[in-house]
Amino acid sequence: MNTESRTIVLITGANQGIGYAVAQGLLAHKDYFILLGSRDASRGAKAATGLDPTGEFVKSITIDVADDTSIQQAADLVASKYRRLDVLINNAGINNEIDIMIKQHKMQQEGGAAQPETINLAQHRKLFRDVYEVNLFGAAMVTEAFTPLLEKSTALPARIVFVSSHTGSLGLRVDSSDAEYAKWSCPSFPVYRTSKAALNMLTLHYAAKFHDNGWKVNGSCPNLTDTNFARGWVKGRPASESAVNIVRLATLSADGESGVYSDENGVVPW
Ligand SMILES: NC(=O)c1ccc[n+]([C@@H]2O[C@H](COP(=O)([O-])OP(=O)(O)OC[C@H]3O[C@@H](n4cnc5c(N)ncnc54)[C@H](OP(=O)(O)O)[C@@H]3O)[C@@H](O)[C@H]2O)c1
Repeated sequence: MNTESRTIVLITGANQGIGYAVAQGLLAHKDYFILLGSRDASRGAKAATGLDPTGEFVKSITIDVADDTSIQQAADLVASKYRRLDVLINNAGINNEIDIMIKQHKMQQEGGAAQPETINLAQHRKLFRDVYEVNLFGAAMVTEAFTPLLEKSTALPARIVFVSSHTGSLGLRVDSSDAEYAKWSCPSFPVYRTSKAALNMLTLHYAAKFHDNGWKVNGSCPNLTDTNFARGWVKGRPASESAVNIVRLATLSADGESGVYSDENGVVPW
């Protein structure tokens, strides 16, 4: 397999959901080579084979973004096998507050009182830690580990995409004149949405840091999507639709934007 002349992309958390759909979308670009990130080797291998049985366009790579050893091993592997990376898509993400919400909802449906879940401070801190480990610290450490390989990119420009969420937008949260305000202003998921708000600042940080390199560093909002993430609790749209803007940002040309937060309809306020 010749990867010399191809654009090499790493997608974290791509064995299912939106990341998998992004890989599917990128398969249309025959000059791209996709490293399908998965924290579980067998789930990754199965997903990669499902996308490309030949292994010519897609290869799985084990990477747990909450584990620095795993991140470094993945970076070392890419360095020794491919010597560079052209596009990094920080997609892996979790929302463990959904499970609490589903539990409360079930209790209500079964005729119980709508009691808020009581968790102690240590449990609450753990909720924050677990989500931040993946959504924020994971994306930051993966970007740090792969920066030396992006610096060796032969694609012009190198690109980094951070998969965020409308729920992390401070702008949508406070602008009551915006038509979307009601949808995003409900006081739900404080852990998840603050992790994504912080991820947005991280996106701007890297956009500024790599501005002079000409890299394209952007955030994408998938919108509510039918993946394991939502646990079937609410009906979202197909992952293929949420992948469209991520694929666009991953394939930007030199005149494309950087430091922008968007969905497929255009710019989203930070
Ligand atoms: N679905 C939505 O409605 C929605 C809306 C807005 C934003 N998003 C964002 O979109 C991104 C993808 O979500 P999704 O809907 O595709 O969710 P998903 O179907 O649950 O997929 C999440 C992926 O992240 C992986 N992952 C979880 N923890 C990881 C870790 N420590 N290291 C590496 N990978 C890890 C999962 O691996 P396993 O298969 O091993 O669990 C899975 O491959 C997330 O950043 C999410 O916040 C989703």
